[in-house]
Amino acid sequence: MKILKTSNSRIDSTDFSNLPFGRIFSDHILICRYKNGSWGESEIRPYGPIDMMPGTQVLHYGQSVFEGMKAFKNSDDEVLLFRKEDSFRRINKSAERLYIPQIPKDIFIEGLESLIALDSDWCKKDEEYSLYIRPFVFASGECIKASASDEYTFMIITSPTTRYYPSDINVVVEQHYTRASKGGVGYTKAAGNYAASFYPTKLANAKGFTQVIWTDSVDHKYIEESGTMNIWIRINDTLITPDLSDTILGGFTRDSLITLARDNGIKVEERKILVNEVIEAHSNGILKEVFGTGTAVTVAPIKSITVGDQKIEIESQINSYASKLKKDLQGIQNGSIKDVYGWTTKVNSVMSSQ
Ligand code: COI
Repeated sequence: MKILKTSNSRIDSTDFSNLPFGRIFSDHILICRYKNGSWGESEIRPYGPIDMMPGTQVLHYGQSVFEGMKAFKNSDDEVLLFRKEDSFRRINKSAERLYIPQIPKDIFIEGLESLIALDSDWCKKDEEYSLYIRPFVFASGECIKASASDEYTFMIITSPTTRYYPSDINVVVEQHYTRASKGGVGYTKAAGNYAASFYPTKLANAKGFTQVIWTDSVDHKYIEESGTMNIWIRINDTLITPDLSDTILGGFTRDSLITLARDNGIKVEERKILVNEVIEAHSNGILKEVFGTGTAVTVAPIKSITVGDQKIEIESQINSYASKLKKDLQGIQNGSIKDVYGWTTKVNSVMSSQ
């Protein structure tokens, strides 16, 4: 791997007390190109523009998938990566569906670790801070025929981050637009999934909602996800989250919370959940919590759900499952709670440049 370090770090001029999500980038990137049927040598170089011709395929057909993961700093100033192997597996699952060549493990994992080691100062130790990591791969061949590219570019960029949603989340149940349909790409992190969500989300924002709750594409009766998060409903003392299918993204935070909840003696059901079941639970006084989970948000309580003209307010619970599970998860992520699950791995310090 070639490593070219910046001679002009931006870290000292970065205001870490003001980090709007996803707008500040660390000093370096990883880049690796696929051509003539194979991946080339990876390179780490300073963050900056990449060359692209107007006929580059991703710009026309959106053949691109990404990942979202995080690194945390423990009290010994060591950087911990959370569920990196799962991220590696998921990008290739997404890539397969978008007909993008598989990324070899050494390119992904060694590239990731070298990049994070080099930019480890961008990962702050204070509470709520982490380094959001964005691996992505896109069609970089130059051709506007509607077909899969024969050239691809894999990159990793990173961004220091704190909270995703600064305030309460109020959501509306989407009864017209759809995020994902059976046989589609909803279970992948395809760039186009997110692009297609922006318009319905803006319409919801204009009515004062933070996000939409996505429902099934056939009747809009079943709850699927909320915004970019997996969704959780607590009825009495049971947590319910939609079971995985080709319309639901298999989030690592979702998966981690299922494990943590069960190990805390909380009953978890992975199953279909009707919008009507939530409305009924609320009128029966047994709807206790609603929250979303995702890499970017971790665990985010939802304060209200609007269905048509009806607004359901969810009263905050003193010892909520969301706050207990979030605390456990964050403790594992930042090393203050022993990780008995093998989710975190230490990043070794910087290798020398070549
Ligand atoms: C994540 O939580 O990893 C996401 O993918 C959210 C991102 C679209 C900001």
